[in-house]
Amino acid sequence: MPAEDSLKLLSPQKIVVLTGAGISAESGVKTFRDNDGLWEHHRIEDVATPEAFARDPELVQHFYNLRRAQLNDVAPNSAHHALAAFEQHFLQKTDNEFLLVTQNVDNLHDRAGSKNLLHMHGELALSRCINSGQIHQQKQPITPESRCTCCHINHNTLRPHIVWFGEMPLHMDTIYQALEQCDLFISIGTSGHVYPAAGFVEIARAAGAYTLEINLEPSQVNRLFHQHIQGPAGTEVPKILKTWQTI
Ligand code: OAD
Repeated sequence: MPAEDSLKLLSPQKIVVLTGAGISAESGVKTFRDNDGLWEHHRIEDVATPEAFARDPELVQHFYNLRRAQLNDVAPNSAHHALAAFEQHFLQKTDNEFLLVTQNVDNLHDRAGSKNLLHMHGELALSRCINSGQIHQQKQPITPESRCTCCHINHNTLRPHIVWFGEMPLHMDTIYQALEQCDLFISIGTSGHVYPAAGFVEIARAAGAYTLEINLEPSQVNRLFHQHIQGPAGTEVPKILKTWQTI
């Protein structure tokens, strides 16, 4: 049976969607594991850890400054827009619940208009003061001289508000609660290499949810999904979400 036909039989009320770098690929944002996971000969893991920041803060800031600047050159694609429009439509019905959890640190879901959105790995558009823990909007590059507006100290007090390897992802209580109650879980554009996100499918399945993966290739956790749709998110996500647009 074609994917859309079998999905029409579902009438979900509580949906959790997980997105990864693949949903932003067609907007021109590089996925994490492009270039064999290397950035200017550094392993990504070596620029995205607290230890790397302690060892060489300027290198780590440079890595994130480049990624932050890139946000000006990219725009949401049809998959981001379809998710935002679907959420708005789906939530018109009382009792329906929708949560979009993204591992992406870009702001493309926000710019497409998604509302019930959690950035579990942080956001490039924010920085955090190491002293006070306060979070600030961050449009400019962070340099050693950048001064936070809370304690006004400069010299490496601001760090990207990004979850680095070895740090705890954000909003986990809310995310687990939604997963434990959802009846449909959709994972889009994520390789399934990084936990805890890679384990969400198991929690949703244990809760009785139907689980659907949309990805260019089977992910590491592909066998845990009820259904896999292989193809680019920009085409497949709008097509699949139409299935429930009449609900
Ligand atoms: P990855 O780069 O690991 O995986 C991206 C996935 O998207 C791959 O499986 C690709 O096949 C797929 N893909 C590529 N283009 C696509 C398209 N147009 N449509 C659909 N799928 C496409 O990125 P993530 O899984 O998001 O964490 O990586 C997870 C986490 O690992 C990141 O959030 C980051 C990284 O380390 C932290 O920084 C904490």
